[in-house]
Amino acid sequence: MGEVDQAFIQAVENRPKLDTIEIEGIPLIDLSISDTRDIKLLVSEIGNACKNWGFFQVINHGVPLELFTKINIAAKTFFDRPIEEKTKVKRDEVNSIGYHESEHTKNVRDWKEVFDFVLKDPSFLPASHEPEDKELKTLRNRWPENPPEFREVCQEYAREAEKLCYKLLELIALSLGLPSNRFHGYFDDHTALMRFNHYPPCPCPELALGVGRHKDAGALTIVAEDDVGGLQVKRKSDGVWVPVKPTPNALVINVGDTIQVWSNEAYESVEHRVVVNSERERFSFPVFFFPSHYVMVKPLEELVNEQNPAKYREYNFGKFFAARSRGDYKKLEVENIQIRDFKII
Ligand code: OGA
Ligand code: NI
Repeated sequence: MGEVDQAFIQAVENRPKLDTIEIEGIPLIDLSISDTRDIKLLVSEIGNACKNWGFFQVINHGVPLELFTKINIAAKTFFDRPIEEKTKVKRDEVNSIGYHESEHTKNVRDWKEVFDFVLKDPSFLPASHEPEDKELKTLRNRWPENPPEFREVCQEYAREAEKLCYKLLELIALSLGLPSNRFHGYFDDHTALMRFNHYPPCPCPELALGVGRHKDAGALTIVAEDDVGGLQVKRKSDGVWVPVKPTPNALVINVGDTIQVWSNEAYESVEHRVVVNSERERFSFPVFFFPSHYVMVKPLEELVNEQNPAKYREYNFGKFFAARSRGDYKKLEVENIQIRDFKII
């Protein structure tokens, strides 16, 4: 363990158990509709998966399958380049977009390197988490020179993923008894981000994590992954860490904090983490679908009443996100903000 920096070592209670166990996994949902599978059935499957797991996989999602091969090749080629080349597109505290190799989750360093880009270029977020500070910062994409097709592949995939995000939001709205377009207005100036994750082989997979346990802050996340595996979901029924089995051509979907609040906890944002292994590198590609920065997030009025009063006070999405992201760059003295800080009951 001599060669591994202490910053990567997880507290004992957060270390993963690496023995593989066969347990019931997250649901797999076919998004296609046919004579025998109507939209009602699909909507109820989505609703059950959101309620019971907060996580599911989808097939027949409409994202052209050749794009998965393309993003995998683009990612591998980029991360294989020398560090001097990758740091030419390095992110900084002003523009948090680009390459980054020392992310922290809950104050422990993650065993990974990442490349981020925004789906809308430019995107706007608050410059700081301070409530009085009205300044915005501009997020602009930085594109590496290699591979030459990198930018085009990213943009092509992102366009398809964005379409799928809206489709899933519609299904989720219907499953809550809302009109299908109920959420769309919150995404007019969305701040969605796509991330390339590269998890290199790790000499001490029992002590470190690729991503420490966390919840995603946005509305929903769509993850493409290769066949290595490593994502684990904390099962709602008993708190057991359940591995997500990579399924060919499927995407992993999870509900984020924003939907937890909008749905007044009908659906919860579930904790997840990524374990690494000593043999194989892994690539994964989340698209985080974040609302516009100015959206005030609160339980939807249609979903609250006297019997079921609002469980959260409203918060500004951009400020929340700015506060959450503070811990990504450096070790903070305290745990950063979570939606439970806005909980009323
Ligand atoms: C994340 C995340 C999952 C994965 O980046 O927030 O949860 O499989 N990633 O890489
Ligand atoms: Ni996540």
